Amino acid sequence: MPDIDSLTAGDRFAPAVPPRAEPYPLKGCGGLDWGMQSRLARVFRPATGRTVMLAIDHGYFQGPTTGLERVDLSIVPLLPYADALMVTRGIVRSTIPPAASPPIVLRASGGPSILGELSDEQIAVSMEDAARINAAAVAVQVFIGGEHETQSVHNMTRLVDQGQRYGIPVLAVTAVGRELTRDARYLRLATRICAELGAHVVKTYYCAEDFDTVTAGCPVPVVMAGGTKLPEREALAMAYRAITEGAAGVDMGRNIFQSEHPAAMIQAVSAIVHQQAKPQAAYDHHLTGRPGQGQQEEQR
Ligand code: R5P
Repeated sequence: MPDIDSLTAGDRFAPAVPPRAEPYPLKGCGGLDWGMQSRLARVFRPATGRTVMLAIDHGYFQGPTTGLERVDLSIVPLLPYADALMVTRGIVRSTIPPAASPPIVLRASGGPSILGELSDEQIAVSMEDAARINAAAVAVQVFIGGEHETQSVHNMTRLVDQGQRYGIPVLAVTAVGRELTRDARYLRLATRICAELGAHVVKTYYCAEDFDTVTAGCPVPVVMAGGTKLPEREALAMAYRAITEGAAGVDMGRNIFQSEHPAAMIQAVSAIVHQQAKPQAAYDHHLTGRPGQGQQEEQR
């Protein structure tokens, strides 16, 4: 209890100084509530406006994926290098150390397995439980053009409504079925629908042509999905191009945890995302602790 008798009138009002209220400049988030912006600022580093999200939620539909057989052994050592972790609540509660975890992007849709029709998902987590886990965002799959397109869009819009209530942002993951082409035209359609209907962040695949029109046409941040495992050099080059063409970061899984050197790989991705390092140089550097070929050439 302060000593009321010793209260004096303050003199630090600085009436001549205009009030300072620094906005968080992430694309499309200026109109969001404070809690929502605060959570997004945990995922997207304020210094760069970008993120390296490590996706390890594959088990929610495909069981123990290669590289995720033992999350405690393969993933926990990588946590210091991730800006956010995309993960299911089962793995969060069983395996992720609360004191050593980056912000959680919680997988919130599910239902079908790889043995069934994947687009037939429903909401699989309540927003109350996401808040209990202290999630920085929730993630939901949206199957534009898929068999259960409308249902998956409704999953997203219901989560957006609940997220608005709790101040928890929604990451829409644009799922691409085998029969759909991953070209800019499709990706523009899918990402824009998600953003128009309220997603705060959209995750989508990279396409070699006109990816910049995908990011430009989406009014909220786009993060690039990793996809099937590629040779390290190719995966890093893809991340570099995506960032150069307007992505606000990456949400990569297999290309990191299935790499022969996952720690070097995620650090290289991070250097690309946050410092726009050249891909091969970044990988060589983190693999060997020495500047890579490309980096040496740049330094000459
Ligand atoms: C998308 O279907 C899920 O979120 C995946 O589990 C995850 O995002 C895939 O990551 P990646 O394709 O980079 O392995």
